[in-house]
Amino acid sequence: MKGHTDIRDLASSEGKEVLVRGWLYAKRESGKIRFLVVRDGTGYLQVVAFAKEVSPEVFAACGTVGQESSLEVRGIIRREPRAPGGFEMGLKELRILHSAVDYPLTPKEHGPEFLLDHRHLWLRSSRPHALLRIRNEICQGVRDFFYDRGFVLIDSPMFTPAACEGTSTLFETDYFGEKAYLTQSGQLYLEPACMAFGKVYCFGPTFRAEKSKTRRHLTEFWMVEPEVAFAELPEILELAEDLVCSLVARALDRNREDLKVLERDTSRLEKISKPFHRMTYDEAAKILEDPAIRARSDAQGAPPFTPGGDFGGFDETVLTENLDRPAMVTHYPTDIKAFYMQPDPANPSRALCVDVLAPEGYGEIIGGSQRIHDHDLLLARIREHQLPEEAFKWYLEIRKYGTVPHGGFGMGVERVVSWLGGVKHLREAIPYPRMLHRLYP
Ligand code: 4AD
Ligand code: MG
Repeated sequence: MKGHTDIRDLASSEGKEVLVRGWLYAKRESGKIRFLVVRDGTGYLQVVAFAKEVSPEVFAACGTVGQESSLEVRGIIRREPRAPGGFEMGLKELRILHSAVDYPLTPKEHGPEFLLDHRHLWLRSSRPHALLRIRNEICQGVRDFFYDRGFVLIDSPMFTPAACEGTSTLFETDYFGEKAYLTQSGQLYLEPACMAFGKVYCFGPTFRAEKSKTRRHLTEFWMVEPEVAFAELPEILELAEDLVCSLVARALDRNREDLKVLERDTSRLEKISKPFHRMTYDEAAKILEDPAIRARSDAQGAPPFTPGGDFGGFDETVLTENLDRPAMVTHYPTDIKAFYMQPDPANPSRALCVDVLAPEGYGEIIGGSQRIHDHDLLLARIREHQLPEEAFKWYLEIRKYGTVPHGGFGMGVERVVSWLGGVKHLREAIPYPRMLHRLYP
């Protein structure tokens, strides 16, 4: 007999004898029958052992083998609609490769801190497994989307001499006696690249020293950032819409089983289509200033929205709660946004920027803008923000040689994965979360 078969490929082995190798996920018994559920990373297989059909040793082992023991099972595959995956194995032989004793993650409920302390094992459980498979599709979907549209991947450095998104969340490191910072965004390095390649993107980890403990913030997260020469705000909005729609469609197409494991209401995702709702910051602010909304935010103890200020989690939820598609909020006050954002020529107190808010209270998934392309205006903004001019010399130089309008956005992968998977906390959307109080394992 040939080597092993992956569980996901068992359909073509109906009626045949195969070898499957994996780990014991669960077991139960009733009388003269013992059931093992074996997982191999590609699926779950119900294995049925009849006392009459296997040796007494194998039958006994089926009763005593511990959860997460590694094993090989050999037997005949038959159709069984009630089994996970639609097939089961009638066991002939069992070989235990390593016997696991007292696996810490039992089927009972564990608290989140316990699970996070055991993330190296928790990855084997069905929920993390399903969610990280969605993440895998999203990451591949991002790469396919940009590659198919002629974007060139330009990786940005992780060590940087200066801030991109404000100085309050910088991780400082010692770089051979000089100060360096872990990157908050690859954007500044993409702007020069789009002048070289037209359409570019980067996709990698980014770092923010977020000292607050919220369910939406990680200190290390993955961001995909496209940057397009000659693009103005409307084109950036369309690109963001197209990307999000393609990722939702991909997950619905390829992660059906995973979404089922997560008990995600997919009817909400089926409704995601173009065009997304568009509103300006001022229109959004009007909604949030409504006395009824105020009363609700007070009742929930949420920080109240201050006109001219940024939105909090409560505000983002309110803005999307009656919408079936994401909302794209544009034209935020220039004052509260990053130094590089292009002020609206028609009203320079507002920036040509966008935040894309996911429905169902999942909040901001994308932030982007048109960039300042005028050298002197950018220099003035760098000075206003008291940023170190010397560190931005190269960035300003882009505006000295053939400057053109350009723009892009950043999409947080974990924000999208948690929305699509219907998981409220970002810590589940990344294999090994890094947060204020979490650096282990
Ligand atoms: O809105 P942000 O800060 O925008 C930028 O960094 C721009 N430089 C991007 C660009 O225009 N190229 O971050 C972009 C996205 C957010 O919308 C959010 O999805 C995610 O990155 N994000 C975080 N995700 C997890 N944890 C955090 N602490 C995050 N901060 C931002
Ligand atoms: Mg933002």
